[in-house]
Amino acid sequence: MTNVHAPMQQSKLQNYNSTRGAEAYKADYKNKLHRKWSDKRERALLTRYFAEIGKVGSILDLPCGHGRLSGFLEERCDDLIEGDWSFTMVSLNQRDNGRDHRRYVRASALEIPLPDRSVDVVVSFRLSHHLETQELRERHLRELFRVAKKHVIVTWFSSTSLKNVLREARVMLLGKQPKNVLRNGRVREIAAEAGYTQKLAKPLFLIGSGHVLGLYTRT
Ligand SMILES: C[S@@+](CC[C@H](N)C(=O)[O-])C[C@H]1O[C@@H](n2cnc3c(N)ncnc32)[C@H](O)[C@@H]1O
Repeated sequence: MTNVHAPMQQSKLQNYNSTRGAEAYKADYKNKLHRKWSDKRERALLTRYFAEIGKVGSILDLPCGHGRLSGFLEERCDDLIEGDWSFTMVSLNQRDNGRDHRRYVRASALEIPLPDRSVDVVVSFRLSHHLETQELRERHLRELFRVAKKHVIVTWFSSTSLKNVLREARVMLLGKQPKNVLRNGRVREIAAEAGYTQKLAKPLFLIGSGHVLGLYTRT
């Protein structure tokens, strides 16, 4: 598989694919306060979203990273598929979480090697904002909607978030790099084209983060 399937900034991708980078990402969630806060808030929102969905047969978690959400998701399905582009992340995850009710796969979220409607729920956390073009961010969403039979839970970086509005000012004034954002309305449009309705879309935080967590249900 080439990097055409994982078109993230090369240095970031190499980092996630190295043992040091994968271990450091995992350690951040134990040691860094802002990571612990966002993890706690994501779990609170996910708990609310799964209260709507209930327990399901199968979940695909892509990208799974080191398996941060593996335990949470495993409790909410019979069969959990953990996938990531990084071999290192997948093996770290398998080492830590084992194979009970879980399968592991190296896969790109831009070309998921699964048939249409083959998994009940597809979860994709913290990938969209790494994808460097609008076309890739939209392709990612379409792949999730294609593979999910019932629901998609996905995060993206919102163009209307305070964090992005402030960034846009710095892009204009200081020549900073723009964020990899999506318009919330565009996410809803792509969902509708794929036959989904937006059920919930909550910001992770109003200040300090631009991430939104969306729940979409097949209509
Ligand atoms: C910020 S981490 C998020 C991991 C996990 N979802 C979480 O929230 O902890 C981003 C992950 O995306 C993976 N990745 C990058 N490009 C990918 C692609 N095209 N398909 C699947 N995974 C990808 C990286 O290897 C890395 O594990």
